[in-house]
Amino acid sequence: MKDISVRVFRYNPETDEQPHYQHYQVKIREGARVLHVLHAIHDEHDPTLSYRYCCGSGQCGSCAVRANGEPVLACTKEAQDGMTIDPLDLPVQKDLMVDMEPYLAEIPSLEPGSEILVPTQDEVDAIKPLRSCIECLACVSACPALKVIDFAGPTAMRENMRLALDPRDIPDRVTEAVCQGLFTCTSCQACWKVCPKDIQIPGKAIEKLRALANRKGLTLPRHQSVEKLVRETGRSVDRIGTSFLEQVPEVLEPYGEVKGTVGFFVGCMYNMRLPQTALDAMEVLRRNGIRVIIPKEQVCCGSPLIRTGQIGYLETLQRRNIEAFVSRGIDVVLTMCAGCGSTLKNDYECPFRVMDINELLLKFEIEPPARLPVKATYHDPCHLMRGQGIRAEPRELISRVVDLVEMPSVCCGSGGGVRSGVPEEAAALAENRRKEIEKTGADIVISSCPFCEYHIMEHTDRPVKNIATVLLEGYREKDKKKVREDWS
Ligand code: SF4
Ligand code: SF4
Ligand code: FES
Repeated sequence: MKDISVRVFRYNPETDEQPHYQHYQVKIREGARVLHVLHAIHDEHDPTLSYRYCCGSGQCGSCAVRANGEPVLACTKEAQDGMTIDPLDLPVQKDLMVDMEPYLAEIPSLEPGSEILVPTQDEVDAIKPLRSCIECLACVSACPALKVIDFAGPTAMRENMRLALDPRDIPDRVTEAVCQGLFTCTSCQACWKVCPKDIQIPGKAIEKLRALANRKGLTLPRHQSVEKLVRETGRSVDRIGTSFLEQVPEVLEPYGEVKGTVGFFVGCMYNMRLPQTALDAMEVLRRNGIRVIIPKEQVCCGSPLIRTGQIGYLETLQRRNIEAFVSRGIDVVLTMCAGCGSTLKNDYECPFRVMDINELLLKFEIEPPARLPVKATYHDPCHLMRGQGIRAEPRELISRVVDLVEMPSVCCGSGGGVRSGVPEEAAALAENRRKEIEKTGADIVISSCPFCEYHIMEHTDRPVKNIATVLLEGYREKDKKKVREDWS
């Protein structure tokens, strides 16, 4: 047995003006779960503590709470000393109990016709990844979209897709999903990452429903324009000046000894909208002994098409990109756009290794930059943190140059075609980011994705910089100091 202390959210709307936290010291067994802690509090400290549970074994979905901010099942999450236990981020009824009814009501049910049909094995196999939901609503609690716009939520979308695959179900689930906000999902993947049953809602339900909507002609007109642009130009954004690819030679040699060679996949945004950021990254790589090969015939990775369900031209893009790197014998392809990196890693079958720039720079043990007298906060790009599992590396690099102050990791609203398709939602999510940035008191915002950088830039008065730019500023400061020392 051991003693742990926990902080628990308490709120009784009948007696409390405001919610508050209560600290408890409880004795639990090694390996005890959050639910055991709640039982101990209830039995030994306060029988009025309200929380839900039933099966105690991860099957019923009734016990979901947030542990240190993360939606979890209380009966499967191991309790830790110092833990904070909150209700799901849904309307609170009392203490840890939330009002699940309105969200459960959005989940559709199978409506069979008069004909008796049995799904084929292929249909059963297609449905399988979507059917293990226990309706815990962890995904709903984590979804940023439904907090700012009318959206039935991730598990309702999951069930729509499941029913769309089921031959026994009669209604038009695709059109229903569109009406329930299918195009408001930002592809942030928060729902998948918190799902106790590991249901890949964005990829297996939302993108699939969007592809079915595309076949029905229900794709948003703004998304159709992006697809047309990709077919016509190979790029998903318009030119606003000289592109990155037009400014660099095919091979950039490092300044000193060659420590490694990579191919560089620039992506549409850094190529067309933020070329200086990509040029900054090239300087950082050259300074650290990395030779960069930049095939000029590379095109859009296809992410804007996959996320919006317009996959007709995808194979052509994939073939052109793979060929561009394979024909040069490149075995490591570097990305600095979180969306491109995630797409190349997860939606391509690449015959080469794909590395994000944060991974690569840490692998090569880069030259230390000078420290800058700057307080910065970092915005986690969804497609870097969740799409590629890269969270620690950017923080490690940033901390070498500036002081880092954290803010919660939440989607900025620029992904999943939402910035172009549902701009009012994208703006509302960015406004939430602005408030969080403000709270940190940071001088600058750092990120590692052109979509996030571009979008956040429009919604904050602080400078928004890429990690590579900040590292380069650290190197320039180091060079200046050296010159000053040499002259003194
Ligand atoms: S991917 Fe993000 S926005 Fe889309 S349903 Fe999941 S949590 Fe919501
Ligand atoms: S999809 Fe996963 S997280 Fe969402 S309600 Fe179902 S089991 Fe819970
Ligand atoms: S009590 Fe049933 S899932 Fe936790």
